Amino acid sequence: MARVFGLLALLPVIAKLTTAQSVPEYGQCGGIGFTGGTTCAAGNTCVLLNPYYSQCLPGASSASSSVSSVSATSTTGTGTSTTSTSSSPTATVSGFVKTSGTQFVLDNKPFTVVGANSYWVGLMNYDTTDMNTAFSDIAATGATTVRTWGFNEVTTPDGVAYYQSWSGSTPTVNTGANGLENFDTVVSIAKAHGLRLIVTLTNNWSDYGGMDVYVNQLLGQGSPHDYFYTNATVIAAYKNYVKTFVSRYVNEPGILGWELANEPRCLGSTSATSGTCTVSTISTWAAELSAFIKSIDSNHLVAIGDEGFFNDPGNPVYVYQGSAGIDFAANLNISTLDFGTFHLYPDSWGESDNPFGTQWIEDHATSMLASNKPVIMEEFGTTSNQSDVYATWYSTILSTGLTGDLIWQAGSDLTNGPTPNDGYAVYPGSDVYVLDTQHAAALKARDGSA
Ligand SMILES: *[C@@H]1O[C@H](CO)[C@@H](O)[C@H](O)[C@H]1NC(C)=O
Ligand SMILES: *[C@@H]1O[C@H](CO)[C@@H](O)[C@H](O)[C@H]1NC(C)=O
Ligand SMILES: *[C@@H]1O[C@H](CO)[C@@H](O)[C@H](O)[C@H]1NC(C)=O
Ligand SMILES: *[C@@H]1O[C@H](CO)[C@@H](O)[C@H](O)[C@H]1NC(C)=O
Repeated sequence: MARVFGLLALLPVIAKLTTAQSVPEYGQCGGIGFTGGTTCAAGNTCVLLNPYYSQCLPGASSASSSVSSVSATSTTGTGTSTTSTSSSPTATVSGFVKTSGTQFVLDNKPFTVVGANSYWVGLMNYDTTDMNTAFSDIAATGATTVRTWGFNEVTTPDGVAYYQSWSGSTPTVNTGANGLENFDTVVSIAKAHGLRLIVTLTNNWSDYGGMDVYVNQLLGQGSPHDYFYTNATVIAAYKNYVKTFVSRYVNEPGILGWELANEPRCLGSTSATSGTCTVSTISTWAAELSAFIKSIDSNHLVAIGDEGFFNDPGNPVYVYQGSAGIDFAANLNISTLDFGTFHLYPDSWGESDNPFGTQWIEDHATSMLASNKPVIMEEFGTTSNQSDVYATWYSTILSTGLTGDLIWQAGSDLTNGPTPNDGYAVYPGSDVYVLDTQHAAALKARDGSA
């Protein structure tokens, strides 16, 4: 109850930012592009959180860690890599994030999951300078967490980093410099910026290989997509990959958690469908695979990585019908799954940004409370009117108490130009970037995790 009170009290603060009066507790008091007041109300001090956001914090008298300025010498599983950016190291990442009711916790204190997706950071053969820039840009928003791909299945290596290659029906995990050693570097640089990774281990989609590669290589080209969830040969091969990947990082605090797949669904477009896949097919698979990961790694959290579709047969709205094979509420009941995830793409789903989007968030917050597990909106995006739409979604996240969120997707300007942009990328200095920074501070203030 106190928590809800705290966040409601925060909302008027945001509206008052541009007045000339002293800035109230938790209000913004500085940052690039900020034109409001810089004097905090009595009992508060203006603390630099990052170049885009300073905040009035109660009693604080010295700046807390400035995550924008980081460099580090870090040790990874297979060796030592030294990385540096323009500034000095402050980040320490230790311990494992756990859950307590609907919250994440670290050392028994609230831990806010907020941040961005960057599937590309480990796949594009970036050097450590570019990786540092990428993670630095994300960390400067106040992010704590980055979701990324821990897979790339190839039949013909194509220059980018890949983690498993296939020769006929024989897969080989790539442990070399453009394989898991590359991922070691990703983890180590993320940590240097105070960030933890949620790592997704395969893809429903055919981007970067994914499920269809397993199905096609093992069962023959054109075999049903959903055999990925049921065929014993495929399950064994996926488990072998998962085991190799996960085992390497069991004691790694830079990993927040593992995800079984990005957006698993029964349907495939590059492959056929068996016609027999239902919500119980994917639930059964998720229970088996999550238990398997727990048997290897009891340190890290596990989630599915799905879009959070509800199973309400006959509902006129597709994402509530259960026809894609996901039953969000039932999956939250699986004891070896620690938190729930959902995505929000109204444009792709033929829905309105609002009120559909806010309703979607509210419905997942209801499931969160019913299951008493954390639930995060781990991907979301709209391609127009972004700042206004995201502001309404963020305010709904705050008001419903939803555990956290990760925007799709981070953007950076690197040595050879901007990172991939599918219309959703958020580059430093943009309106959405500034909004994300304010949102991260508001969520942390709500959770008392700052
Ligand atoms: C699942 O993955 C396949 C790619 O293999 C993709 O074409 C299909 O559209 C995805 N299913 C859905 C409906 O998201
Ligand atoms: C998996 O697929 C292979 C190839 O089609 C088949 O021989 C095998 O019986 C299947 N296994 C199961 C358990 O369905
Ligand atoms: C989740 O488990 C609870 C307790 O066993 C049960 O009452 C509830 O119906 C389950 N929810 C779903 C959606 O399966
Ligand atoms: C932009 O989004 C806001 C919040 O959903 C909405 O109120 C407004 O009508 C939208 N504007 C346009 C031009 O779509």
